[in-house]
Amino acid sequence: MRKSKTALVTGASGGLGLEFARLLAKEYCDLVLVARNEGKLNGIKRELEKEYGITAWVCPCDLSRVDAALGVYQFTQAHDLEIDALINNAGFGDSGKFAESNWRKQYEMVQVDITALMQLTHCFLPGMIERKHGKILNLSSVAAFCAGPGMSVYYASKAFVRSFSEAVAEEVKGIGVTVTALCPGPTATGFEAAADMGKGSKMFKKAAKPEDVAKAGIRALRLGKVLCYQGSFTKWMGFLCRLAPRSVTRRYAAKMDK
Ligand SMILES: NC(=O)c1ccc[n+]([C@@H]2O[C@H](COP(=O)([O-])OP(=O)(O)OC[C@H]3O[C@@H](n4cnc5c(N)ncnc54)[C@H](OP(=O)(O)O)[C@@H]3O)[C@@H](O)[C@H]2O)c1
Repeated sequence: MRKSKTALVTGASGGLGLEFARLLAKEYCDLVLVARNEGKLNGIKRELEKEYGITAWVCPCDLSRVDAALGVYQFTQAHDLEIDALINNAGFGDSGKFAESNWRKQYEMVQVDITALMQLTHCFLPGMIERKHGKILNLSSVAAFCAGPGMSVYYASKAFVRSFSEAVAEEVKGIGVTVTALCPGPTATGFEAAADMGKGSKMFKKAAKPEDVAKAGIRALRLGKVLCYQGSFTKWMGFLCRLAPRSVTRRYAAKMDK
């Protein structure tokens, strides 16, 4: 008989992913921890196992590689793990004009933020549907609401995540499986540094705490909400972006990212 539930968290080595892992461990959920930094993941495994008496498996993986997500799925099969909750959190951005950008970084961003998220969903969703039980949380962003000059690929990737999640959520409605897109605003994690935004971005002046964002995400996951706009900034942005012409919202986004 299965003792506890198991959640798989991508990008669990820091930032929001680590907060998701902590909250799930607190609920006595066993964990599969995925990211590139194996040393950090092993430290987190030890900390959470000791503090909450759960079992955590470390699955080091570079999700920008082709079919990396398939490797993660095969890892869970090899360890005979049934995944009750999939937290598609790994992701990063990049700032600067697209024409001047590093192609490799744009490509890897699409691989991690879109392809890996989609492939993990594709791997785990059929089993969840068969069992009539399962929850998926996909990390979108306030960036999904409009075009983002100066971060074009990142904004577009998060719009993809929101649209994809909403569509799949509707496809599985009513059968015990839910898909949630979490749309946080600026949050104090490693994101700004990974996106080469420097420290002056207006957006991050009042960044949310990662633990608050993660709590909102887990609450939405538990309730099976399709969309979760975390924080008043995000809620206002969502509202204004529905009213304002896109020519206005894209100019506003360009100013905020500076
Ligand atoms: N912070 C914000 O303001 C904000 C706002 C809205 C949405 N989000 C979204 O929230 C999610 C989490 O970001 P964060 O804010 O927590 O940023 P973060 O602190 O930089 O964490 C990013 C996580 O993703 C992992 N990751 C990055 N590249 C990877 C790769 N190639 N393969 C596997 N794992 C990889 C990192 O682990 P390794 O380096 O160990 O691989 C790390 O654990 C992202 O999807 C982001 O777009 C963030």
